[in-house]
Amino acid sequence: MPSNIEKIQELVAKRDEARMGGGEKRIDAQHKKGKLTARERIELFLDEGSFEEYDMFVTHRTHSFGLEKQHYLSDGVVTGRGTVDGRVVFVFAQDFTVFGGSLSETFALKICKIMDQALKVGAPVIGLNDSGGARIQEGVRSLAGYAEIFQRNIMASGVIPQISGILGPCAGGAVYSPALTDFVLMTEETSYMFVTGPKVVQTVTGEVISTEDLGGPNMHATKSGVTHFVAKDEHEAILMLRKLLSYLPSNNLEEPPMHPCHDPIDRLDDALNHIIPDNPNQPYDVKDVIHATVDDNEFLEVHQSYAQNIVVGFARYNGRSVGIVANQPKYLAGVLDIEASRKAARFVRCCDAFNIPIVTFVDVPGFLPGSAQEYGGIITHGAKLLFAYGEATVPKITITLRKSYGGAHDVMSCKQLRGDVNYAWPTAEIAVMGAKGAVEVLEGRKIREMETEEEKMQYILEKEQEYLEKFANPYNAARYGYIDDVIEPRNTRFRIIRSLETLATKKELNPPKKHSNIPL
Ligand code: HXC
Repeated sequence: MPSNIEKIQELVAKRDEARMGGGEKRIDAQHKKGKLTARERIELFLDEGSFEEYDMFVTHRTHSFGLEKQHYLSDGVVTGRGTVDGRVVFVFAQDFTVFGGSLSETFALKICKIMDQALKVGAPVIGLNDSGGARIQEGVRSLAGYAEIFQRNIMASGVIPQISGILGPCAGGAVYSPALTDFVLMTEETSYMFVTGPKVVQTVTGEVISTEDLGGPNMHATKSGVTHFVAKDEHEAILMLRKLLSYLPSNNLEEPPMHPCHDPIDRLDDALNHIIPDNPNQPYDVKDVIHATVDDNEFLEVHQSYAQNIVVGFARYNGRSVGIVANQPKYLAGVLDIEASRKAARFVRCCDAFNIPIVTFVDVPGFLPGSAQEYGGIITHGAKLLFAYGEATVPKITITLRKSYGGAHDVMSCKQLRGDVNYAWPTAEIAVMGAKGAVEVLEGRKIREMETEEEKMQYILEKEQEYLEKFANPYNAARYGYIDDVIEPRNTRFRIIRSLETLATKKELNPPKKHSNIPL
């Protein structure tokens, strides 16, 4: 019978064994790939000394393929809780040094345990993924394990923030847990995500494609939109995850944390009075408007390289977290298309789920016309953004900077979609369509009947001018109360902050229902 001291020594030895994961050789191999181990990642991510590990002594229960002789304490995933900036979070990190981080039944149960507890206490779950997928030796038990996690992802959605860092392989059905979470972050060079890998793709379809082109971070950041963030390495990834959390509440019943703000609330920015070019067709960068108005010019952009005609991300006004949505005139003239609608709709819903007010900067010429958009279902996708804004009950502040035309005017958080405060700059143009299109429709017959080209041109110019004078301003909309006030651009920060403070106690409820039927 061992003495009590020997029992304690046994515990220490077991802990040391667990911390070694799949052993020194595999840890070295992990480092050689430029990757950290699961425990190193957690240590870097959490506040120093705050990690409480769960289930360190768990091992798998497989008795075939020689696995009965191979047991690693923790079974390929490190799970537990700790704090980030003093706030409780739950975390799991897949350990590639143990069976390639592949998911066994017990591995899945460990993740489920922390997800269940996170949901009970109302704290975010952060998953650090680096895995060869289903543990092949476990067969269907591994699939069942994934499904247990998926079900919890779904139940936790909109209740606690769920964030996925992809720091290595993530393939097959395993991609669907990250896809069900609120945010996905990938690291350059070391991560990839796909449902079927290049070899299977070649066998089934004949297409030859590299891992990077099929599922690398660059592809997902620009083409599929699967990842919201790309970090250059793991250290940057961890910092980005911590920063992202700083904008989010711990759960849907809490407000986002307030941050101390030293940026004066009444800071005027004269440059904003000059930012809109006199020529309405000339672009400018809407990010300059965002940076100029938010606290300390700090803006965490989400989906930076995807659908760049709309900009979304987090910032603060007087310490208060907000979600910002802004049409980007610098890219495709800020037009709304399928990707932009999907991107912004998802972001608006995320803000609404987590009590984050939405500030919308509008400069939109309309929806992108054409068969490609219609065949792709712009009607359904555009409706997503409309639905998201109309359904959102968080404070909504809209500032129309320049164009706000047609259906896109309605979609971009207009007054009738329960916009709480709708401001416009004097440069705003709020109308059914641009002058050129309007004159073509209204005067087409008359123009066609004219004899000379010169006469036609002269008439078109006159009518366009007349239309512009009448409609290319904010005052028509303001006359009907659709715009609450026309503000001087340099005052924008102050006006937004004052509105947010008034709206902090806003209460608005949608009718009770099982759930809405958003056009998916
Ligand atoms: C068991 C696995 C494993 C797996 C890797 N390993 N994947 N063990 N099940 N799925 C083990 C290897 O045997 C090896 O063990 C160690 O992990 C490291 O793997 P390597 O191949 O040496 O590493 P690397 O060269 O970096 O390649 C990584 C990899 C490759 C690309 C991920 O291992 C791979 O292709 N694995 C199989 C991927 C896969 O097809 N998974 C199933 C997908 S289907 P030793 O002992 O040598 O260190 C799926 C369905 C999910 O996941 C469904 C959810 C609904």
